[in-house]
Amino acid sequence: MSKTYLVTGGAGFIGSNFIHYLLKKHQDILLVNVDKLTYAGNLENLASVMDDKRHVFAQADICDKDAMEKLFDLYDFDYVVNFAAESHVDRSIKDPDVFARTNVMGTVNLLNLAKKHWLIGEDTYKPGVKFQQVSTDEVYGALGSEGFFTETTPLSPHSPYSASKASADLFVQAYGDTYKLPLNITRCSNNYGPYQFPEKLIPLMINNCLTKKQLPVYGDGMQVRDWLYVEDHCRAIDLVLSKGRPGEVYNVGGHNERPNVFIVKSIIDYVHDSIDPSVSEALIKHVVDRKGHDRRYGIDPQKIKDELGWEPETMFEDGIKLTIRWYLEHREWMEHVTSGSYQKYYEQMYANR
Ligand code: NAD
Ligand code: TYD
Repeated sequence: MSKTYLVTGGAGFIGSNFIHYLLKKHQDILLVNVDKLTYAGNLENLASVMDDKRHVFAQADICDKDAMEKLFDLYDFDYVVNFAAESHVDRSIKDPDVFARTNVMGTVNLLNLAKKHWLIGEDTYKPGVKFQQVSTDEVYGALGSEGFFTETTPLSPHSPYSASKASADLFVQAYGDTYKLPLNITRCSNNYGPYQFPEKLIPLMINNCLTKKQLPVYGDGMQVRDWLYVEDHCRAIDLVLSKGRPGEVYNVGGHNERPNVFIVKSIIDYVHDSIDPSVSEALIKHVVDRKGHDRRYGIDPQKIKDELGWEPETMFEDGIKLTIRWYLEHREWMEHVTSGSYQKYYEQMYANR
């Protein structure tokens, strides 16, 4: 049956991958993509689907009650998938306020609108609707060398970014508990793949290798992240939307834990062997560590495997090669991002219509 989605943050990294994924997978859908186009929003990520009638783009802030209400009035949404967020830990350390505003207040605004527009009786909602909050394993805090995050691990965020995502998760859970709003929360580990803004570890290191700049590794570089290819995350979200039990949290990750220096060295090795033999570990520069740097994240994905049959399909060794090749084949995309010209794309595109 045809579904109408509100996808927020669809011009960012995971949101744009999700839009490409859904448009390939489902024929009969309508995606309304709302994005404020902050520095992290890039319509070039969606160039190939801007003329697809199943995708409608609206530039708006999820905190803007009037603008969002108009969209809820105009479209009869079945699903809200909330990707929109400030997403970078280092920025949150420098400027936490916008993280509280967008990640917490923006989510509450969307919850209120979904509740208002979907409610059809006492604690009863339009059939088939779902609010999905795209969250992160960082809400659980940090692990020592043993153990994994499960859905029952207590929330213990450390950075302003993770504190804002944990706050949003608590609001989402509260709307499920108090108002019975049908919802899910997915908490995913670190994603990598096409269209990721080069402030994050993997695209930054790829771009710096390709342009032979220094590779800044924070502290000793032995912090561990659990890496997931973005398409596997998109598939998990799609599955949770249609089959996840309302009210449940699902952790998404794939036992792909790697220390940061390992990631950096893998990128160097691939670029050295396949692209530019002059690229070497001499480019690595250990720099001052991030404040409050979480040592290790690791997801236990057993629940989503048992209940929904989800498992990652892309092993890190394949995913990292696909990703490096993608950035190599899309050097223009990277040049537009690093020069800042990507932010003019929207104006140009609409001026030409
Ligand atoms: P991103 O920074 O690449 O994209 C965020 C998008 O949200 C951008 O397009 C931006 O313009 C938009 N946005 C920001 N503020 C907005 C506002 N007020 N109103 C409307 N749009 C706004 O982030 P991402 O890496 O794609 O992450 C997407 C979501 O997934 C986030 O909620 C993040 O917390 C979560 N997540 C990310 C990862 C990861 O590894 N990247 C892992 C787990 C969860
Ligand atoms: P990042 O991509 O910012 O994701 P997150 O902080 O959400 O996990 O960083 C991933 C890891 O890489 C994290 O441990 C910090 C580290 N890092 C560096 O060592 N150097 C860098 O330049 C960046 C951006 C990150």
